[in-house]
Order: sequence, then structure tokens, then C-alpha cells
Amino acid sequence: MAYPASTHLPARPAHREELERDESDSHILLKLFALFAGIAVAVILPIGLWLAVSAQGARDDAEKAAAKAASAGSMADMPGMAAMPGMTGATAKGGTYATPSFAGLAPANADALAMRHAAFPAALAPAPAGAVAHVTLAMQHTTVSIAPGIRYDAWTFGDTAPGPVIHVRQGQTVAVTLRNDGPMPHSIDFHAAQIAPNVAFGDVLPGQSKTFTFVASTPGVFMYHCGTAPAFVHIANGMYGAIVVEPSNLPAVQHEYVLVSSEWYLNSAGESAPASLDLTKANEMTPDWVTWNGYAHQYKEHPLTADPGDTVRFWVVDAGPSLTTDFHVVGAVLERAWLNGDLVDAPQHDIQTAPVPAGGGGVFDVKIDKAGIYPFVSHSFASVNMGQVGLLNVGHVAGTMSH
Ligand code: CU
Ligand code: CU
Repeated sequence: MAYPASTHLPARPAHREELERDESDSHILLKLFALFAGIAVAVILPIGLWLAVSAQGARDDAEKAAAKAASAGSMADMPGMAAMPGMTGATAKGGTYATPSFAGLAPANADALAMRHAAFPAALAPAPAGAVAHVTLAMQHTTVSIAPGIRYDAWTFGDTAPGPVIHVRQGQTVAVTLRNDGPMPHSIDFHAAQIAPNVAFGDVLPGQSKTFTFVASTPGVFMYHCGTAPAFVHIANGMYGAIVVEPSNLPAVQHEYVLVSSEWYLNSAGESAPASLDLTKANEMTPDWVTWNGYAHQYKEHPLTADPGDTVRFWVVDAGPSLTTDFHVVGAVLERAWLNGDLVDAPQHDIQTAPVPAGGGGVFDVKIDKAGIYPFVSHSFASVNMGQVGLLNVGHVAGTMSH
């Protein structure tokens, strides 16, 4: 070998040093490992304990909540609720479960049924003359159609959901007579009224009537609804409607339509027998149907109409009970938009989509010059899929449009 000795000899101690270093390294590693293991045990053990305790706590909480739902929260304890299977889905330990979605379900003859359905009148009727507008509302339990071939055991003002549109002039006194033809207490809450709710909005017992008055001092388009507890259930079951309080200074338009948005939460398909409320779906805000004026896409088969050059005014209320409506007219802009139904201030102009909150309203003017078919929707598109779409036919053109 040609290696110089000097290069070879020093290599040995160096090698030994390496070995020693390796040994001492492994000692350090062992010590580090032991230290780490110690720390790990010290840290992980309490975490594990904590997790175990919290899991037990969560189980206890869940059991308590389920027990509470099964006893105190059970709608079956309330009058008129016992016959609602969708509302008694609580179990001792499992909580409540929603029925599967029935969204979009349609029988084979759905088109024919849709054509036969008498659309809820959306055209705004004139306000009564005189200083007092008399409004009589019967409250009842009745079966309504909410989509082609789909029925629902509703609670209603009048015999429809939404209830009748009320149209008064700003400053008019509204004299309300309520008659309860239903089997349980109901009431009415007018968002248009500034009035002591414990007096005017109190329960009317079955078979009884009551009358109260309020002055429609604030212009706008307002929701009315049953306020009997739980109002959520009374609204979800159909007890809502719109009241238009019209000021004298709005620009004239050629057509005025009232649209009430609402959701339906079904505990069955509603085909062979009427559905009723699935409270779990309602709590989860996962409707089966979302409608304009209570019936899925009814203004597709029975379009609202206008002529080219007309301005159309939409009075929109979102009855909820929970979802917001994002009002939009396809192929148009909202030329005047009184957001939140604020008719005291100037409108906004030329906006594409206007929010209408649950329990709120909005007034929207749309001027359309070209003949055609213009869908109006909530641009929260899941709602369109569940039925919240209608058509404005401008110029009485042939055909239809889906969206
Ligand atoms: Cu009610
Ligand atoms: Cu309310």
C-alpha cells in the first residue's frame, strides 16, 4: 500500500474516539429518550385522563339533552301536537333524527297537476276605501297542496298558506277580527303594528273570537304570523301572510305582485297521505320545499304577466321560518329597491339581488322593455331547486323557461 504511515497511524485513535463518541452519543440518546418518555407520560397521562373525563361529560350532557328533549321539550305534550309523528322523534339516548329529504319528489302526472292547481293570487288587490280597513281572519287546521301531488296538514289564516294578502293605505286604521276555528290556541302578530303584543297578539282559544285595532302608521310590506308558542312551529305549519301598507307617494307602476317566501319541512313525502312537520328538519333548516306563495314553482305553470315597457312592483315578504330570500329577477335589474321595505327613505337603484330577511320584506320595481320570459328567484339557489322560482311573462310570449 502506498499510504504514508502518518496517515494510517493517527487514524486509529481517531477511530476509537469516534467509537467512544458513538457510545457517549447513544448514552445521551438513551437519556434523552428516557427524559422524553418521562415527559410524555407526564403530559399524555393527564391529557388522556382529561379526554376520558370530557367524553364522559359529553355523554352525560347528551343524555341529559336527549332526556330533556324527550320530556320537557316534547311537542307531544302540547295541545294538537300528539298526532304529529315527525315531532316525536326524540329517543332517550339518540336525540332526534330527520326523515330523509323529500325535495323535488314528483308524481308521474306532476305537470298535469301543476296546470290544474289554482295559483295563489299574487296580484295586489286595491286597498279598501275609508278610514278603517276591516280584516277578518279565520284560523284553522286544513290540508293544503304545497307542490304538484304533495299535501301538507297545515295551520292557516283563511284556508291557504300564506294567508290572504292584506292591503291598506298608510294611516288607515286596521280593525282585525280573529276567529279560531282550530282545535288549539292561535293568535296573530302583525309586524306592521306598534301595539302592546301581550294585549293584541294574545292567544284566541278554540271556538273564540277577538277584535283589536291598530293604525297602519308605517309604510312597507310586513309579515303577519301566528305568535302562539312555539311560534316557530305555527309559522312552519303555514300561519303567516303579508300586509302591504302603502304610502301615497310611490311612483305609479303598471303591475303589482305580492310574493311570500316560505319553507316546508315534511315528515313524509306527502303523496299518499298529507305530511306534517318534521321538527328536526325545521331545526336543522333543511327544508324539502321552498315556495313563493306556498306552492312550489306555481308561477312557472301560471306565470305573472306584464307588457313590454311596463314597470312591475314586487312586494316581497320572507315568512321563513328560517331562511333568507335573495330576491333576483333573471334578465333584469331591480331598478328601484326599497331594502327592508323601508318606504320612508329613498330606494337604492339598479341592484342585481336584494336580501329579504326571514321576518322581513322588500319592495322592488323592475322595468322590462323586451318581451320574454323572466324568472324571479331566490338567488340562494338551493331554494330554487326546492321550488322557489316563478316566471314573469312579458308580452305574453309562448313557451316556458326552467332555471
Ligand atoms: Cu297558531
Ligand atoms: Cu314576527
